[in-house]
Amino acid sequence: MNHRLRYFFSTHERFLCDDQAEKSDQGNLMEHASEEPALGELDSLFTDCLETYCREIGWRGDFDLEYQLFPNVAPKGHYVPSHNHVSHISAVYYVHTQPVDRPLLVSDEDVTQYWRPDRGALILHDPRFNASLCGGWHYHAKVFPRPGTMIFFPSFLWHEVTPHDSEEARLSVAANFFLTYRNVPPYLRQRQLTV
Ligand SMILES: [Fe+2]
Repeated sequence: MNHRLRYFFSTHERFLCDDQAEKSDQGNLMEHASEEPALGELDSLFTDCLETYCREIGWRGDFDLEYQLFPNVAPKGHYVPSHNHVSHISAVYYVHTQPVDRPLLVSDEDVTQYWRPDRGALILHDPRFNASLCGGWHYHAKVFPRPGTMIFFPSFLWHEVTPHDSEEARLSVAANFFLTYRNVPPYLRQRQLTV
């Protein structure tokens, strides 16, 4: 699957234009599913893993699911500053990354290592505002992804991607999931609002 996705991203005109990064989340990758069947495989992988993730975090029940998949084609030196996502649950799947000699997940670093300029890392920040002040209760995690790594996290979690050194583009696909309980409790009113 990764081989086919990599070929798709490296040859499709949509991902070869100069402003492809700025436009990456303005569409849905699955618009191209008929052009590359591997996108359908990836779509199923995301939704299967979403079910597992929801069970793991204790979300049970019937939901209406809306979601967006969007690509990140990141050339050498590309980075993404700290941000979070406007959705409930987010995920990312890595198609191609540069080889690294760091573990897949580093979650026990001292706070002083927080500031080290690691290359090609996904940094998951402590979600507690100003938790880094005064040290003692600060936590963060760094992911050094491999091809085939898929990560789920709550969309509110601030994260960033540090630059990489590879001449080959880092390829990943991100997902934003919106889940709405089907069984709305009787004390909540439902209406449609147009503004
Ligand atoms: Fe993100």
